[in-house]
Amino acid sequence: MKASTQAAAWRPDSWQQKPAAQQPVYPDPDALASVLRQLGELPPLVSSWEVESLKQQLAEAGRGERFLLQGGDCSENFEDCQSGTIAAKLKILLQMSLVLVQGARKRVVRVGRFAGQYAKPRSADVETRGDVTLPVYRGDIVNRTGFDPHARTPDPTRLLRGYERAGLTVNFIRALIDGGFADLHHPEYWEMHFARPSPLAAEYQRMVRSITESLQFIEALTGGPIPGMNRVDFFTSHEGLHLHYEQAVTRQVPRREGWYNLGTHFPWIGNRTRALDGAHIEYFRGIRNPIAVKIGPPIQPEEVLALCDALNPANEPGRLTLITRFGLACVARELPPLVQAVQSRERRVLWVCDPMHGNTETTRTGIKTRRFERILEELETTFQILADAGAHPGGVHFELTGDNVTECLGGDCGLTEADLTRDYRSRVDPRLNYEQSLEMALRLARLLDQPAG
Ligand code: PEP
Ligand code: CO
Repeated sequence: MKASTQAAAWRPDSWQQKPAAQQPVYPDPDALASVLRQLGELPPLVSSWEVESLKQQLAEAGRGERFLLQGGDCSENFEDCQSGTIAAKLKILLQMSLVLVQGARKRVVRVGRFAGQYAKPRSADVETRGDVTLPVYRGDIVNRTGFDPHARTPDPTRLLRGYERAGLTVNFIRALIDGGFADLHHPEYWEMHFARPSPLAAEYQRMVRSITESLQFIEALTGGPIPGMNRVDFFTSHEGLHLHYEQAVTRQVPRREGWYNLGTHFPWIGNRTRALDGAHIEYFRGIRNPIAVKIGPPIQPEEVLALCDALNPANEPGRLTLITRFGLACVARELPPLVQAVQSRERRVLWVCDPMHGNTETTRTGIKTRRFERILEELETTFQILADAGAHPGGVHFELTGDNVTECLGGDCGLTEADLTRDYRSRVDPRLNYEQSLEMALRLARLLDQPAG
């Protein structure tokens, strides 16, 4: 089908004509329809101005003028919608971005994996324990974790609860930022709390001190505050997995053409739902937001080019981000032909590395974890591959948290397998903790500070 015929046929619900992977089955379709109607009437969480501004910033990142930092939980829980948890996540992302600005010498685009990251793709539709088989847990926006029929039956009212919590989260983040949480005139806001003295903490504190001093110096010279130094832009993102939900938050706005997903700034398509003839590609191709697609093995260059054609037929800068997630074991073999294909056909994409999802392993005692050193090495390898092909290493995508959980191994804090059970909270994938996240940013800053060779 030609692109123009395809474009004419798109509607917010046209995905319903395609096979939709990873969707829950609701026992009561009328209850679902009623919830979706209510969702469709609620005010949006973000505005089309913000969405367009992010697209501009991502276009700049695609040209190598900015660097994207995207991070947050694998999956947000309803019960973690609390001020302390949200503020801690915002704080670590701000601290990481400060470090990255120093290292990359570029402005950083900050995007949280939050305010709507509630739906999870799973490897099976059902879970069996003994002789009981129940629907699998698909994230708090669908059902609950408990292994009983009541908890596991998809409940459409959770879509409303999720939207409301996303709204509460985004509201709190906006309030913190507007209230001065990211104000560089207050170095005390930027302090970090390490469990014990560490060379990394000292390196970070030196960095903050030098930024504060430079700011004071320039303000003394110019005789006043530099505009914009007291706040930053912050954007939201989540996997656009649950298509009824995404459709319900897809809106038209006055004086702009087309449809926007106003439930988040920057939705992405997961690695499991990127089938070219599938419902997710159909939904995503019609919205005006900047969008991302995760790509991991096995994927061929033709498939990546076909994704670019389907999702960004006009080759619009800032529209499409490719998030690579190959894992250290195969990135060096699999990624180079893809980057070369995209580069040689001059497809405008932003290359972002997710070094988490290809590096998940299970310990002998059955705990899902990831190793700090392998995560870092995938980043290094990916950036080198991109540089070799003449592409810009445009950003990073992490699963992380602002709390000192014990889910990933290694790093300067020396987390070992024995530590994992101490404070493992994630229900899905393991996250870098506060110290590991800041260390990752410092290591990444060094990497970006040196020309690839
Ligand atoms: C995720 O980001 O949590 C995820 C499931 O990733 P992927 O689609 O890359 O497997
Ligand atoms: Co994950």
